[in-house]
Amino acid sequence: MGLKIGVIRGDGIGPEIVAEAVKVLDAISGKFGHTFEYEEILMGGASIDVHGIPLTDEAIARAKAQDAVLMGSIGGDAKTSPWYKLPPEKRPEAGLLGIRKALALFANLRPAKLYPELAKASPLRDDIIADGFDMMIMRELTGGLYFGKRYTEVVDGLTQAVDTLIYNENEIRRIAIRAFDIAAKRNKKVCSVDKANVLDSSRLWRKIVDEVAADHPDIECSHMLVDNAAMQLVKDPGQFDVVLTENMFGDILSDEASMITGSLGMLPSASLNETKFGLYEPSGGSAPDIAGKGIANPIATILSAAMMLQFSFDLDEEAKAIENAVEQVLKDGYRTIDIVPRDGSDFVQVGTKEMGDRIVERI
Ligand code: IPM
Ligand code: MG
Repeated sequence: MGLKIGVIRGDGIGPEIVAEAVKVLDAISGKFGHTFEYEEILMGGASIDVHGIPLTDEAIARAKAQDAVLMGSIGGDAKTSPWYKLPPEKRPEAGLLGIRKALALFANLRPAKLYPELAKASPLRDDIIADGFDMMIMRELTGGLYFGKRYTEVVDGLTQAVDTLIYNENEIRRIAIRAFDIAAKRNKKVCSVDKANVLDSSRLWRKIVDEVAADHPDIECSHMLVDNAAMQLVKDPGQFDVVLTENMFGDILSDEASMITGSLGMLPSASLNETKFGLYEPSGGSAPDIAGKGIANPIATILSAAMMLQFSFDLDEEAKAIENAVEQVLKDGYRTIDIVPRDGSDFVQVGTKEMGDRIVERI
């Protein structure tokens, strides 16, 4: 199969981790006889440095022309990087929000599962994770607080800032339908997370989710308040299958979910629209503090490439080959610094590049 893959290397550790994912994709194309053509696309700080803005119309057009896009991470150190002297709409993050919106990537899938080999890297107590966990956070990605009106004004001599949280029923319905579809292929449970005891947007969210649930009698649907969900994630993560939630709650809960797997460096993500197109990126950030040191964990990006094969290209066997290689490398004891066992048990410490090489060897 000949496929066009856009590559946004991005900022911070982005270029390092993307290089490893591309290496893995090349191993897959070699083994399974596909042709992947890569098209470099600038976004975030890397685009600011060249074009003065984090996302150009040309970059959007080029992304749209691909079958899928693989991304590293964007953004820098807010204290020291010149990018953060720019107004907010010209900073790196605005590029990421812009491309999500421009490509209508409303469904963000963030799978958080515990690899048994990494149980000793998880900050959770052994008895809590004894039976493991495997959940899919489904985060709405193009609505809510992230895309409401925002402004700062002075009222009666006092400066105040306003962010609005708006969801219409269609925005809720389409992500809910996606969540139930995905649950049907998993353990048939959807837990919708909201703040319906306070927010109107959450009450509408709950109503629409219930309507969608009524069309899916084979899927168990439950609702949970977000504060409770944050607590349940560390108390009993095994209870979750698909966790469906709005943009901001999903941002927060997915960082939490990733950390209990051992490291933010393990969590891939897929951002999908109504077509087969998707943007695939690790859930973690650009980690400017460790950029260029060759120590970042490339696994989240490599697993994001696997999600691309599965969701955009329907290459399930190839995706599985990557997942198995990652599992094997962990079984064989290789660890980047973020996932070393906390109890002093044996491991082989590797850097970004060697982790990529060891995974390629196992494909
Ligand atoms: C994420 C990131 C982004 C978000 C930032 C960089 C804007 O935290 O993808 O989770 O909040 O969506
Ligand atoms: Mg986040």
